[in-house]
Amino acid sequence: MRRILVIGALGQIGSELIPALQDRYGAEQVVASDLRVVPVERLAGSACEHLDCTQPQQVLEVVRRHDVGTIYHLAALLSAVAEERPHVAWSVNMGGLYNVLEAARQYRCQVFFPSSIGAFGPSTPRQHTPQVTVQRPTTMYGVTKVAGELLCDYYASRFGVDARGLRLPGLISYVAMPGGGTTDYAVEIFYSALRYKHYSCFLKPDTRLDMMYMPDAIAAMIALMEADAKRLSHRNAYNVTAMSITPAELAVEMRKHIPDFVIDYQVDPGRQAIADSWPQSISDKAARQDWGFAPRFDLAAMTADMLKRLRAKVRPPTGG
Ligand SMILES: NC(=O)c1ccc[n+]([C@@H]2O[C@H](COP(=O)([O-])OP(=O)(O)OC[C@H]3O[C@@H](n4cnc5c(N)ncnc54)[C@H](O)[C@@H]3O)[C@@H](O)[C@H]2O)c1
Repeated sequence: MRRILVIGALGQIGSELIPALQDRYGAEQVVASDLRVVPVERLAGSACEHLDCTQPQQVLEVVRRHDVGTIYHLAALLSAVAEERPHVAWSVNMGGLYNVLEAARQYRCQVFFPSSIGAFGPSTPRQHTPQVTVQRPTTMYGVTKVAGELLCDYYASRFGVDARGLRLPGLISYVAMPGGGTTDYAVEIFYSALRYKHYSCFLKPDTRLDMMYMPDAIAAMIALMEADAKRLSHRNAYNVTAMSITPAELAVEMRKHIPDFVIDYQVDPGRQAIADSWPQSISDKAARQDWGFAPRFDLAAMTADMLKRLRAKVRPPTGG
């Protein structure tokens, strides 16, 4: 078996994808890479590379040297950061993907590309957003995600590159902090609730968005990559979701575990505008039909598990 390269391995997704790939295929099969230096203790027997995906020669060299057959390309600027630095976002999100697809074309690699609910825009139907629909996003992040989906499809049809993708919703996780997205509130709220029993949310209480717990996202990524290609009626990218929730609903669920938890709202107009341009609930029917997508965690199960896991590592501040 040729090796699996993860680009952007230190981020919110990579931090949990690396151990999952190691468990499934063996640590020696996995190569972790990031622009940041990967700490040795995170590797558990896998190789690591310092890799900037905007540098085509670096990508080609790592793929060649490690005999890479599959690339999970996670490096990107997320929605809120991309809106602050649109030029850098174009360079990393598009330039990086182009370099990865070129390496995949030359070395016959399979590619995973994480698209997002950010690939939709205000003219997209906001409820039960279909798999195939209007995609006219108004953010730089969304522009790079739609263009990325199209570029992956182009490399698949023109050059036979086995590129596959998911339109991921906001991801909730307890291992690594999120990297500057519009749905980050749904992670921050847990840390803040355990430390201070209080959270100031940057989105309005009734802002409804799709979310998923990280174990379901990791399982979906691996399931899609292992699925029989003949069953995939779409490639880039499948809608997936596990819950459609608002900050107020999440706060109610958290109060079942932390009764004196208080939430208030200090709305950030930039991130609120991004959230308001995204769907409220997407349809994952195609993913369920084509390759058996079936998330395990709903709002209640996710909240209970997040609090159980985080209680072990997050403590209230000591006085003094
Ligand atoms: N986390 C979510 O909620 C979510 C939702 C939808 C889609 N996605 C997509 O999934 C992917 C991964 O998301 P994440 O949350 O893990 O992001 P993240 O910001 O947590 O991690 C990204 C990683 O990429 C690295 N990186 C940045 N520039 C790089 C470069 N030039 N070369 C190599 N590495 C570089 C960063 O150091 C970081 O470790 C992104 O494409 C993102 O758009 C994430």
